[in-house]
Amino acid sequence: MCGIFAYTGSKKASPILLEGLSMLEYRGYDSAGIYMPGFDVVKTPGAVAELTKRMTKDYSATSGIAHLRWATHGAPNEVNAHPHGDCDGDVFVIHNGIIENFRELKEELLAGGHTFKSETDTEVIAHLIEGALKDKLNFEDAVIDTLKKLRGTYGLLISYAKDPDTIITARMGSPVVVGLGDGENFIASDATPILKHTKQMMFLSDGDVAIITPTTHRVRTLLETEVDRPSETITWDVGEASRGGYPHFMLKEMMESPEVIENALRGRLIMEEGKAKLGGLEAVEKELQNIDRLIIVGCGTAYYAGLIGEYLIESLAGVPVEVELASEFRYRKPVIRPNTAVLAISQSGETLDTLEAIREAKRHGALTLGIVNTVGSTIARETDAGVYNHAGPEIGVASTKALVSQVVILSLVALFLGRTRSLSKDDGVALANALKSLPELAKKVLEQSEEIRKVANVYKDSRDFLFIGRKFSYPAALEGALKLKEVSYVHAEGYGAGEMKHGPLAMIDEKFPTVAIVPQDSVYEKTVSNMIEIRTRKGSVIAIATAGDEKIKEVSDHVIYIPKASEELSVVLSIIALQLFAYHFAADKGLNVDRPRNLAKSVTVE
Ligand code: AGP
Repeated sequence: MCGIFAYTGSKKASPILLEGLSMLEYRGYDSAGIYMPGFDVVKTPGAVAELTKRMTKDYSATSGIAHLRWATHGAPNEVNAHPHGDCDGDVFVIHNGIIENFRELKEELLAGGHTFKSETDTEVIAHLIEGALKDKLNFEDAVIDTLKKLRGTYGLLISYAKDPDTIITARMGSPVVVGLGDGENFIASDATPILKHTKQMMFLSDGDVAIITPTTHRVRTLLETEVDRPSETITWDVGEASRGGYPHFMLKEMMESPEVIENALRGRLIMEEGKAKLGGLEAVEKELQNIDRLIIVGCGTAYYAGLIGEYLIESLAGVPVEVELASEFRYRKPVIRPNTAVLAISQSGETLDTLEAIREAKRHGALTLGIVNTVGSTIARETDAGVYNHAGPEIGVASTKALVSQVVILSLVALFLGRTRSLSKDDGVALANALKSLPELAKKVLEQSEEIRKVANVYKDSRDFLFIGRKFSYPAALEGALKLKEVSYVHAEGYGAGEMKHGPLAMIDEKFPTVAIVPQDSVYEKTVSNMIEIRTRKGSVIAIATAGDEKIKEVSDHVIYIPKASEELSVVLSIIALQLFAYHFAADKGLNVDRPRNLAKSVTVE
């Protein structure tokens, strides 16, 4: 998720572009760049402050395109920063998204004599447009011809030195909004940087291409030369705009879960074979064939993702897995043998305990792997191999979409390992299909946000909560308790449901509600028994249950339904429901759910 911003009008473009970028820094901040026709492109690692320092000329240009990068392909450095240009420096492109077929396109372009500067997928687009222009197509047709060759997602801004007032933008999977001003027009990844200039916005749809000049705007598609796209007057303030109109980043990021699942899966499933294609692990595929033990390390929510990964990888790939708190692993002199691999899970890629756990593993000679969201982060760089989440920046301190992504990628890792071991093609195909259907099922859980809010409000005065579950629902119970306590500050504990008689049952009374995660799976009846023993002692029970399960109402005070899904993946849906429960419980108390007291987004100290 990068920040893109463009201007074309009669004013000097550079101050407008820099100010707009500074309002988009929440979308990405590892590198920045600007192109204005008639001037050299300016790019830098870091964010807007560094870019401003490099803008040393008096730029008279009245149009330009600007970018803040959240790296997906290629390290976050100057050469990979956007905009990216063609061989002659006439065409410059800014891109938010992932082009899946860029490697084959790049090979063709290299064979055709093009020279590349970066390792990004984006640069391919500039060279394709260059080629089409040299085939005597005009600017618009050259862009259309190029877009027809791309596979993947994009929000694009394209500027051409020989047509300086025109900016062409295109949307496929990444948001693009056009701001319609008086004698000037704006384009951005969201309304935030535009609102100061105009409230008249036109939100593009997937497949749209818009040709923008200071006084005109025309929308077309790859097939039609003109389509009608109504504009609307946006009443958001800047804060709401940066949150996509949601009251909090945490809610916005939960609502991104279906897209996050799609991004985690994109280009990584070989459906007909029931296999996973994980480019980041291919270099160590031989070593992975020979590992006889996998240790997963992480902290907080990432640790709980690891617990789910243990169940997935052991059941699907038959590889023994242990999950350790990184803060324990690094100090306890763990036994690591030659065929042990250590996998770090970290959204930020900077959590010190997790980083030091990886360093401890390397000192023991272990193969180190990472599942990391932040490209180029320390853990991503120091592990031998890994898989990026491509979940975009997670701004809320409480980790939500990152966990959903981590579980999906752990499913892919289980599939990747399993199909080189004893997992059958049929079972692999079944899992691949279940993963493919997950975004739609996640949407169904998210549609219940207001229902879940009502249940959370029933318990708004409770000061203690127990979360219980079995098998995949046990880590979900731990995560549900963590989510609730970290955004609402109430006491919440997660437990394996089978532990009730070993202690927790003593706490239960009418003031101590229990959230029971009880999908219709292989341990359903056992968890129902636990719910009965709780209610017998006057404890209230909120069930997270499978849609259509009417019987569960007999043993619950409230039921939150999730769609039926495979046993391995139902946990993703439970997690989303639990995140929404915690969010509404805290937000309706007026708490700052994006920045809970005492916590930081990335714990880079001990
Ligand atoms: C989760 O909601 C917390 N914010 C926290 O537990 C977090 O998951 C943990 O600090 C690990 O962070 P990481 O994924 O960036 O390593």
